[in-house]
Amino acid sequence: MASSGSNQPYAVITGASRGLGQAFATALSKQGFNTILVSLPGENLDRTADLIATRYGTKSVSFETDLTDQKNVIALAQQINQSYSVSILINNAGAGGTQEFIRSHPEEINAIIQLNVTATALMTHQLLPNLMKQPRGYILNVSSICAFSPTGYKTVYPATKIFINSFSHGLSQELKNSTVTVSVVNPGPMDTNKEVTTRIRNQGLIARMGKLPVETVAEMSLKKMFKGKRQIFLNAPNRINHLIMYVIPLRLGVSLSTFIVKREINRANK
Ligand SMILES: NC(=O)c1ccc[n+]([C@@H]2O[C@H](COP(=O)([O-])OP(=O)(O)OC[C@H]3O[C@@H](n4cnc5c(N)ncnc54)[C@H](OP(=O)(O)O)[C@@H]3O)[C@@H](O)[C@H]2O)c1
Repeated sequence: MASSGSNQPYAVITGASRGLGQAFATALSKQGFNTILVSLPGENLDRTADLIATRYGTKSVSFETDLTDQKNVIALAQQINQSYSVSILINNAGAGGTQEFIRSHPEEINAIIQLNVTATALMTHQLLPNLMKQPRGYILNVSSICAFSPTGYKTVYPATKIFINSFSHGLSQELKNSTVTVSVVNPGPMDTNKEVTTRIRNQGLIARMGKLPVETVAEMSLKKMFKGKRQIFLNAPNRINHLIMYVIPLRLGVSLSTFIVKREINRANK
């Protein structure tokens, strides 16, 4: 917990306008941290920052920018580095979707990779010197339980999420003698927005196992992040899911997860 006061360093949270990112911002403000919120333009993020700051007596600022453009990521990080001390970075903004690969638009494929992979790596790279100046620094990267399940009709998203796991573990090892810890959380399903909620419902009971409210995911993740835990699973179903994908033959795992997603598509098309 931060000792309350406005001279504390800031926590940067990408994708903070809604869903899990907003839950992270709220939970951190509740604990007395100042926050820097990031989302796409046009989301009235200023208002969210004002509400959080007023409610919890912390400072909160907002930046609206498209993180799929790496020039924006660098410019944002420079602006933050010039004006704020940062002790926490949460790379939460992420995008995915369910679609036959051949029908996906090139722009969609590129946006998922740029946001989930490139923005995560570049934000971390650009803010790391700032984090290293603080007595303690924390990086939390948001992956997904999907990271361990290559899946047809969802080909790009899990591939980007396993990048996040690999990147986090490697960097954590590299920084093990520093004051900065790196954690990666692999949440299961969360009802964050309408599209995701419908998708989760259509995937059936097995996919819904392990579902948690965003507030719980945020609070549990932060608790483990502050303990410096490298790999974060949030509940037994997600741990079991990971274990199953680890022990069964890859081909079987891929056909199982593809079966679940195919059911989602069939139900959505009814
Ligand atoms: N929901 C799930 O079931 C689930 C499960 C496992 C992991 N996750 C992961 O958890 C994280 C949060 O998911 P969520 O469901 O809370 O997401 P969400 O409700 O779709 O919100 C995504 C957030 O990211 C921001 N964002 C999207 N594209 C952006 C861009 N190009 N530039 C800057 N910001 C951008 C959005 O801003 P705007 O509001 O401005 O669009 C929003 O704040 C993601 O990394 C996701 O992959 C989600």
